[in-house]
Amino acid sequence: MLVLGIESTCDETSVAIVENGKNVLANVVASQIKEHAPWQGVVPEIASRNHLKKIIPLTEKALKLADLEINQVDLIAVANRPGLIGGLMVGVSAAKAFAWVTKKPFIAINHMDAHLYSPHISSEINFPYVGLLVSGGHTMLVIAKSYTSYEVIGTTIDDAVGEAFDKIAKFYDLGYPGGPAIEKTALNGNELAFSFPISNLYKSDRKFDVSYSGLKTAVINHLHKYQQAESYSVADIAASFQKRAFDVLLKKIELAIKEFNINTVVVAGGVSANQYLRKRFQQIKNCNAFFPNLKYATDNGAMIAAFAYHKYLEEGETSLSEGVYPRVEGFKISLLRK
Ligand code: KG4
Ligand code: ZN
Repeated sequence: MLVLGIESTCDETSVAIVENGKNVLANVVASQIKEHAPWQGVVPEIASRNHLKKIIPLTEKALKLADLEINQVDLIAVANRPGLIGGLMVGVSAAKAFAWVTKKPFIAINHMDAHLYSPHISSEINFPYVGLLVSGGHTMLVIAKSYTSYEVIGTTIDDAVGEAFDKIAKFYDLGYPGGPAIEKTALNGNELAFSFPISNLYKSDRKFDVSYSGLKTAVINHLHKYQQAESYSVADIAASFQKRAFDVLLKKIELAIKEFNINTVVVAGGVSANQYLRKRFQQIKNCNAFFPNLKYATDNGAMIAAFAYHKYLEEGETSLSEGVYPRVEGFKISLLRK
């Protein structure tokens, strides 16, 4: 089955064509980094306008790369949640129009479900596994039971980990997007130079939850000291922050491995591109960790098309009257999703 997948939830427009959830025939991505860089963050209106400009040429490009006409595609998939509303509307409107004119089925996908699926594109992974979803908007710990079913066991109670990277990079003027900028800066730093605070949610109903606002605020407040003290190195600050940001996630993963007696771990979402994080996972005992191929770590259409194949087989198509949802309700503790 050939699936065309559209991704327009944030600052990347992407269209892909994937066969049977695995074989990526085309995955074209138009990044908006240049457009948002002057503001050191995503400007929603600029994002929507760029999605609108790019969506048709990218679809044409993806079809050309795959050597297909649009009516040879079997299913049209799009992320309709969570994300910036303007971008979601562009992607969903385009997907519905393509489905309508070609009379092919349409399917709407949760962007986070697609991130969790992304390592499956290149690896064979057995269920159940512990899933760690780390992106610019979400930080979630799940127990995945099948491609389409997982239980959320923990989430951030405030900021997402990617958001903390982005905000800190903005304050220290390290560049946008903040994640790769901090990772690069940290390469020359001493991760033990500063002991930033780490959240410690330990109560039984909170033990898999995380918090990033305290760490983020502490590092941002450190800016003043950094500007005063000539001896402070921004690389040391970046490395110390990065270590702390991931210490807490690794602690929760170790806890989940023990508590659920599951050794397979899947890490996905934009932050999973971080090489330091990947190395840290190698140090966890009894842990067989899977990460997406780098090109499927940050937002991309391939993960939408690939995951849509499984969702369609299990649940069928989505009505063309389906809407867009900037937030996803219920990414909270102990919610069993089907
Ligand atoms: O999944 P994604 O592309 O978009 C969302 O769904 O949010 O994730 C984007 C997030 C941003 O916060 C970005 O700074 C972060 O992923 N990110 C990274 C790295 N690459 C992207 N964070 C840490 N290290 C990286 N190498
Ligand atoms: Zn994403």
